[in-house]
Amino acid sequence: MGITLNRDHLSGFLRKEDYKKIAPALKKAHEALHAKKGPGNDFLGWLDLPGRVSGAFLKELDGLAAMVQNNSDALVSVGIGGSYLGIRSTVEFLGGAPKLPIHYAGHNMSSEDLSGLLQRLQDRRVSIVVISKSGTTTEPALAFRILKRFMQERYGEAQLKERIICVTDGKKGALKKIADTYGFRSFVIPDDVGGRFSVLTPVGLVPLACAGVDVRGLLEGARAGQDEYGQNDPERNAAYQYAASRYLLYQKGKLIEVLASFYPNLFYVAEWWKQLFGESEGKDGQGIFPASVMYSTDLHSMGQLMQNGVRVIFETFLMIEKVSRDIVIPKDEADLDGFNCVAGKGLDFVNKKAYEATAAAHDEGDVPSLTITLSKADAFHLGQLYYFFEKAVAISGYLLRVNPFDQPGVEAYKAKMFKLLGKAA
Ligand code: PA5
Repeated sequence: MGITLNRDHLSGFLRKEDYKKIAPALKKAHEALHAKKGPGNDFLGWLDLPGRVSGAFLKELDGLAAMVQNNSDALVSVGIGGSYLGIRSTVEFLGGAPKLPIHYAGHNMSSEDLSGLLQRLQDRRVSIVVISKSGTTTEPALAFRILKRFMQERYGEAQLKERIICVTDGKKGALKKIADTYGFRSFVIPDDVGGRFSVLTPVGLVPLACAGVDVRGLLEGARAGQDEYGQNDPERNAAYQYAASRYLLYQKGKLIEVLASFYPNLFYVAEWWKQLFGESEGKDGQGIFPASVMYSTDLHSMGQLMQNGVRVIFETFLMIEKVSRDIVIPKDEADLDGFNCVAGKGLDFVNKKAYEATAAAHDEGDVPSLTITLSKADAFHLGQLYYFFEKAVAISGYLLRVNPFDQPGVEAYKAKMFKLLGKAA
């Protein structure tokens, strides 16, 4: 049970001395983070969050979830970036079919997308959770404006108050004003937790609980992560080994990290991971570019570049040890395809051999790799993985000497777009 980190395919690229050299910087980063003395120290609410979520809050969520699941057959989660990715990655990782079907809006401005959703909702009893920390983000604000009209045309005031739930700042922002004006139930996002670190706050917990996801399991795993990755001993802290390895590879010219998985239910986990690492590290002219691929599908499209292309890439494989469902490959009397060599084996056995082969081939092709393995694809291990990556990126940001908790660059396009739209900033 748990998460393991394998660094065998780094041995030709990094040496023990490399790790020894950065051990003092790693220790300093840990101390600054835990003493809350480093850059961005007013955004460290995530650090001990898993241990702080109260039983009373979880009970409140149980009540809300029971009501929503009873009066709805579709839940729409409206949000973007940190107010979207963690929710979707959790739902998809756990199989994509929670008790209450969940739909997403406000993560793009595609009229096709939203029209399609409105159509799908026509004959459904709908509830909406709208999430925005700032309360002013264009994509969810416009999607919510449209969905609110859709709901107002169907339901009376009392029903709307049961069916629209807001998750936003406790004091400021347009969404807070809307919630107060219409009397919508609202949940507060803590001030000291940034969007990309917020999956275990009401941002993730409210829609996930409403959809029927095991939020207690998620939190339990994150709590295990908080203990395990709180140790200031790189020998015993896999999150620190991961942070140190990627930092050392970056120093050696590996500028792109590709998160590679052989399990499609990890697709949105990779999307969540990209925001976490890209937004945390990409500043002051620095940052490893986080990319992702889904193998073995992408071995037939990106495999060539990975094996022989520009050599600035390292790879992090994300694997699952025990799949929940396997399929035995049947023996075929004629064996015309020549695959009786794996008859009687599970399909996952072959998938794992493909991983082993890929890691070995890429190693020879000058692409170092690490492998993070989750024993199981359940809520507990995902919670632990979220915390693993959050802790790793905080340490990694401090090693790079950037503030991993701000995102000033995200504002640049917004200022220009508001000017084009004639909207007051
Ligand atoms: O990390 C961030 O702050 C952003 O990328 C946000 O997650 C995204 O813009 C959504 O912000 P908000 O929750 O304020 O609507």
